[in-house]
Amino acid sequence: MKKLQLIYQVYSLADLENSEKELIQAAKDSLSKSYSPYSHFQVAAALLMDDDTIVTGVNIENAAYSSCICAERTAITKARSENPKAQLKMLAIAVNGPNTFEQAGIAAPCGECRQVIFEWVQAYEYKVPILLYGNDEYIVKIEDVQSLLPFGFGGAHLKK
Ligand code: THU
Repeated sequence: MKKLQLIYQVYSLADLENSEKELIQAAKDSLSKSYSPYSHFQVAAALLMDDDTIVTGVNIENAAYSSCICAERTAITKARSENPKAQLKMLAIAVNGPNTFEQAGIAAPCGECRQVIFEWVQAYEYKVPILLYGNDEYIVKIEDVQSLLPFGFGGAHLKK
């Protein structure tokens, strides 16, 4: 039998590298820009690109609920539109909502965002880590964001 396991580690902010701290701070600073009058659940994503720029995005809701866009997809869409050649090095997500996972207040990307992230990084020759900020003593780090979407469906499945 083959097993798939999600491997993650929990860190304190103090244990992280400066670039990781900066990325988390960028996500936290963006939370107040969230447009979430319906869910009151603020989400912010910060992307560190390989040109060392940081691109942020927040969730943008809509009275027609299916028109809502998640923070991760806002950030990816912004980054890709502004600079199509830049590659993603790392991403961080911060939320302002109830304490969910392990009571630490983190949230991981929804299924649709996992699919969009998968599409974007599938061709990379390196792993992209993701940081999920709960509080200063509880930050989940997953070394390979692709591990959030096992058996992910991508362009390789389609006929040329
Ligand atoms: N949301 C995100 O922005 N990212 C996720 O990965 C999960 C959900 C947003 C969508 C909606 O605005 C709110 O959180 C509640 O679902």
